[in-house]
Amino acid sequence: MDKTPTIGVLTSGGDAPGMNAAIRAVTREAICNGMKVKAIYHGYQGLIDGEVKEFQTQDVSGIIQRGGTIIKSARCAEFQTPEGRKKAYKTLQREKIDALIVIGGDGTFTGARNFSMEYDIPIIGLPGTIDNDLWGTDATIGYDTALNTITDCIDKLRDTGASHDRIFLVEVMGRDAGFLTLNAAIAGGCEAAIIPERAPVPEQIEEAIKRGQRKSKNSSIILVQEHAFEGGANKVAQLIEQVHPEYSTRVTVLGHLQRGGSPTASDRILASRMGVAAIQALLDGQRNVMVGIQNDEITLVPLNKAIQQKKDIKEDSWHAIATLSL
Ligand code: F6P
Repeated sequence: MDKTPTIGVLTSGGDAPGMNAAIRAVTREAICNGMKVKAIYHGYQGLIDGEVKEFQTQDVSGIIQRGGTIIKSARCAEFQTPEGRKKAYKTLQREKIDALIVIGGDGTFTGARNFSMEYDIPIIGLPGTIDNDLWGTDATIGYDTALNTITDCIDKLRDTGASHDRIFLVEVMGRDAGFLTLNAAIAGGCEAAIIPERAPVPEQIEEAIKRGQRKSKNSSIILVQEHAFEGGANKVAQLIEQVHPEYSTRVTVLGHLQRGGSPTASDRILASRMGVAAIQALLDGQRNVMVGIQNDEITLVPLNKAIQQKKDIKEDSWHAIATLSL
């Protein structure tokens, strides 16, 4: 990089609470270190279309507490093509951007990895996704907020479910991963969690109902990860009512509520630390790595590893949901 390098920053894929805190940290740490910052709007689509604006410190004032992303996000099919990436590179050249910081999840990093293989541009990834499904980091920006939002919803559903002696099936996001579902089930004291990492055999559902309706319990809450079971929470409810017409079920699909809201303190701190670390990584000459956090230490993980390795569900978490609901 030259003496006054210019950093481009973008958010891509599903937005996550805390992305703004990350943009703020990247911008301010870069400016403090004598760099220029250019915000790229609408993720990779904006990079292709040249939607770029130089940011000053004040452009990121008053945003640490805001959900979503002030520089917008998008899922961009064009960037998956070599032609799209060529246009994106032309924008980088035109805007004299020397390095990129991309905030997003698996799809964002796959795009970044492909881009970095074709063009000589250092890229640092910040894990921003509610799904927490990236290998190499204990937590992703947005996960804690989403987990708290889901837990809050479960608490509310518990009130009405218990009043009417009902079984609630609650559908939770997570793409291919069950972290949100399993940990929200533990935090919400749910009777069961149906996650993609564990095949949801009908006996498992049956066992969950038995556990829920046993003893003094007349109601239960079962969380269903959005892609764990074909037909989702609605299908699970149907199956339960077929086998047990005596039970009354209700389904709640939490949907995009899970992505919104003001980030928790934990997400704001994580995003701020990671944003600072991203700039420091560039100053240290790092490229094509994701900033992670492991045992409260900031780490750098090759982008390739972050997307290729599978992050495991902890066995003790599974045990917790299996036994604590008895
Ligand atoms: O990756 C975040 C996420 O919210 C997933 O949990 C979910 O499967 C997906 O994005 C939904 O994407 P969209 O907002 O494009 O419908």
